[in-house]
Amino acid sequence: MKLFLDTANRDLIKKWVPTNLIDGVTTNPSLLSKEGKNIKDVLLDICKMVKGDVSIEVVKKEPSDVYKQAKEISKLAKNVVVKIPFQFEYLPVISKLVKENIKINVTLIFSVIQATLVAKLGVKYISPFIGRLDDIDIPGLEQLEKIMLIKNNYNYKSEIIAASIRNVMHMQEAILMGTDVVTIPPSLLDKIFTHPLTMQGIEKFDSDWKKLGKKELLK
Ligand code: E4P
Repeated sequence: MKLFLDTANRDLIKKWVPTNLIDGVTTNPSLLSKEGKNIKDVLLDICKMVKGDVSIEVVKKEPSDVYKQAKEISKLAKNVVVKIPFQFEYLPVISKLVKENIKINVTLIFSVIQATLVAKLGVKYISPFIGRLDDIDIPGLEQLEKIMLIKNNYNYKSEIIAASIRNVMHMQEAILMGTDVVTIPPSLLDKIFTHPLTMQGIEKFDSDWKKLGKKELLK
């Protein structure tokens, strides 16, 4: 299971990289919009900070412009993955880029069939969104489970990124399904590392140890 950080914030990436848990980063235009105007610098920094794949989304609209921008993005760094939204008009562009060995992450996937069709194109990553489906009362995890079943039945090579992960249960269930990648907002990782019982346990061990009145453990 690969763990990507779902953020464009360099401070947060800097915090998590030394843990050796982070295999890549996913960004999107909304995340980038929080990081100021010097987007190219932000992206170049992120690509240097992490060894693994960094997804950068196209913002152009016309298919020919999307193709051109995808090529530009792909040249930013070796570990760049070009993120392209799922849209009928972009399918020829995606196929062309795949043939040119450019790593593509197709984003905004909200159905099993969308994921299946994109898998046929041989893209590197497919990103089904879990939380945004839950937001409209469609169980996102059920869609993800079916997508994993189809991927495994047909042996599609594309890696599935569980995206729009909002809580620990989303993350846990995605991992149990054997999702290739989970991309996690740093705030959710923080929660995992500040589990109330872990925090209470540390306090209890500390206070019991202090009661003993001994400074060194092994002397
Ligand atoms: C990642 O690739 C997606 O852009 C991201 O997970 C979307 O998350 P959100 O639905 O919480 O905005």
